[in-house]
Amino acid sequence: MLKLGVLISGGGTNLQAIIDEIEAKRLDAKISLVISSKPDAGGLERAKKHGIKTLVITKADHPEREAYDKAIVAALKDAGAELVVLAGFMRIVTPTLINAFKNKIINIHPALLPAFPGLDVQQKAIDYGARFSGATVHFVDEGVDTGPVILQAVVPVLQNDTAKTLAARILNEEHKILPEAIRLISEGRVSVQGRRVIIKDAAENDTPLTNPKTR
Ligand code: GRF
Repeated sequence: MLKLGVLISGGGTNLQAIIDEIEAKRLDAKISLVISSKPDAGGLERAKKHGIKTLVITKADHPEREAYDKAIVAALKDAGAELVVLAGFMRIVTPTLINAFKNKIINIHPALLPAFPGLDVQQKAIDYGARFSGATVHFVDEGVDTGPVILQAVVPVLQNDTAKTLAARILNEEHKILPEAIRLISEGRVSVQGRRVIIKDAAENDTPLTNPKTR
């Protein structure tokens, strides 16, 4: 059973999606520890409701970035985490954490990387006039949102979308592909070849999409 360490900073709906999949016995994993960078993160309540161990490590506890990540690593190792899941974790990780869990850290990002890395990406997609956006689960490397892509889900950007409506549409897909990526890793079906991720026995989707439909 794959032991997970989940890092959060906010509401934790992605954490909840993982919890739900585990409890529905659709994901053979155990969340050994939830670490939040914010003491008031809603995700902490979600974890506690399901009897999952939680820990808060704030910037104030370790103002220096490497020391912060050292504390994170110690807690994750102590909890026996084998895969680290960044689920709405609003900090940039340093080589201290990356090297302690080489190719064992995944992140969920609400855009189709490499388009729109960073923050406020739903608004950026709307402002750019993009016709599609979506969600990406990727391995974490030393860049920001630059690691090898595991899964992506595409959603249309509608002409009357606001950041809020687009974010909600993307979030729905995040809740599907993050647990699925964890499942694939737990099943040993994911390998990394340089920049590319290969998923064993994947039935590929070759359906082209166009947006908007103009006639
Ligand atoms: C999600 O869009 C996630 O992609 C981003 O933070 C948002 C909130 O995530 N990183 P959650 O509800 O805290 O899981």
